[in-house]
Amino acid sequence: MKSVAIYPGSFDPVTNGHLDIIERGLRLFDKVIVAILINPAKKSQELFSVEERIEMLKNSMKNIENTEVDYFNGLLVDYAAKRKANAILRGLRAVSDFEYEFQLALMNRRLNREIQTVFLMTGFRWIFTSSSIIKEAARFGGDVTSMVPEGVNLKLKEKFKNRQVGF
Ligand code: PNS
Repeated sequence: MKSVAIYPGSFDPVTNGHLDIIERGLRLFDKVIVAILINPAKKSQELFSVEERIEMLKNSMKNIENTEVDYFNGLLVDYAAKRKANAILRGLRAVSDFEYEFQLALMNRRLNREIQTVFLMTGFRWIFTSSSIIKEAARFGGDVTSMVPEGVNLKLKEKFKNRQVGF
């Protein structure tokens, strides 16, 4: 039987750190499904639409075999069970990630004991990168070329081109 992991997240947008976790995950699992959470409550805080995020993920992952891009709403464990996944994959960067991730993993375990959460330590280069900090830098004209796939860099530039900087 093939082992399948769900790698869930907002991916707003995908970063090199996410791709690093996907590649590490593929050393443990036969397939990694990257699943974007559709979260109506967070819609106003999102920079990219779900369609844009799917497109950026697909482009960035086109040379990585045994992966799939999907989206879900509702409970992650229900989606994972529906996709017959054995595990939920999450990346850990600095210690600051730990508390939230621990809480999420324990809640998911209470909700479905069959699905294990697997944490992988992100590559050292990406320890301090996140979609949020990258968006903030890009918004004010910072160069984030080395932190995101090329297509994402272009989309960020496009997104912020006509936006006024300041208050
Ligand atoms: O990249 P993020 O935003 O940190 O990802 C968070 C995510 C999508 C993994 C988490 O919010 C999630 O799984 N949401 C779906 C609802 C759910 O199952 N929540 C956990 C138990 S209440």
